[in-house]
Amino acid sequence: MADTKKYILAIESSCDDTSAAVLCNANVLSNVVATQEIHKQYGGVVPELASRAHQQNIVPVVHQALAKANIDKKELSAIAFTRGPGLMGSLLVGTSFAKSLALGLDIPLIKVNHMEAHILAHFIEDEGMTPPSFPFLAMTISGGHTQIVKVTDHFSMEVLGETLDDAVGEAFDKSAKLMGLPYPGGPLVDKYAQLGNPKAYDFPKPKVDGLNFSFSGLKTSILYFLQRETQKNPDFVSQNINDICASVQYTILEILMEKLEMAVEQTGIKQVAIGGGVAANSGIRARLKEAEESMGWKTYIPKFQYCTDNAGMIGIVGYLKFEKGEFTDQSVAAKARYAIGT
Ligand code: KG4
Ligand code: ZN
Repeated sequence: MADTKKYILAIESSCDDTSAAVLCNANVLSNVVATQEIHKQYGGVVPELASRAHQQNIVPVVHQALAKANIDKKELSAIAFTRGPGLMGSLLVGTSFAKSLALGLDIPLIKVNHMEAHILAHFIEDEGMTPPSFPFLAMTISGGHTQIVKVTDHFSMEVLGETLDDAVGEAFDKSAKLMGLPYPGGPLVDKYAQLGNPKAYDFPKPKVDGLNFSFSGLKTSILYFLQRETQKNPDFVSQNINDICASVQYTILEILMEKLEMAVEQTGIKQVAIGGGVAANSGIRARLKEAEESMGWKTYIPKFQYCTDNAGMIGIVGYLKFEKGEFTDQSVAAKARYAIGT
């Protein structure tokens, strides 16, 4: 019998995580992520430093992914890589590496859209994860994007709404920065929020038509609020960090849930999936679970390791494309702006 096992090496380098994964069909054998610590001291990702760190990390990370999977590079069936969207300098490292390796090994090359990968991460076969059936709604919430997407097939996606300014992850990170928390602040806001009162402070929600989002106004109102309060009491932030984080997170989650409910109402689709770094947030995970009870939704939440940037999600798209025979040639170039479905 012919060997039906496909081994895909996947590479992700769109922002500040260098990652490589090896998949056997839809199963992730290894998923190595090197998070670049260098950006912490600058309070955000510095593109030039990110590309340099990718250059340093890519070879060891790929070696580690192959070793952990116990796969020799000669056994690989194809190489999948993130073509975009993302930081150009960062994308170039992964793209060039993937192209060279595929050429050297004489195996197919597969280009992957990072945002599609956040959605298709749900199709990774892993204990405790059930893939959604079509059609479903996917809300991708990350440091670079905030979108609600209608997914009718693996590769048939329509963006129903998106942010007009900051991404939701940026809203978390920028709010955290205003509170003096290090980058990326999202996970810390989540941690403190769990100990605070979400109704302690009231922040205004933006008025945006349809299924689009806006987060820049929230950031400004948090800035003014903190300036006002620290003038009265210089220790206001440290004394009330839990309540401030809980209130900020509550407002952000209200904004997300309101639009998601509107999308369900408009489309009649009650299957709802989330993806992207902010999907790791304990509050959004709880709110989705509640919606199963209160609104009869069926919700899908990926495991933590498939929420934040990782090559496992690039690999699953690689495998799905491999099955369709969708390969790319050596003329492919990285794309900083790369819309879903193009
Ligand atoms: O998907 P991702 O790893 O990278 C991008 O493609 O942007 O998302 C990173 C974002 C950051 O803004 C980070 O603060 C946020 O996800 N994030 C969280 C949590 N974990 C990561 N935000 C809120 N709560 C979390 N637990
Ligand atoms: Zn991402």
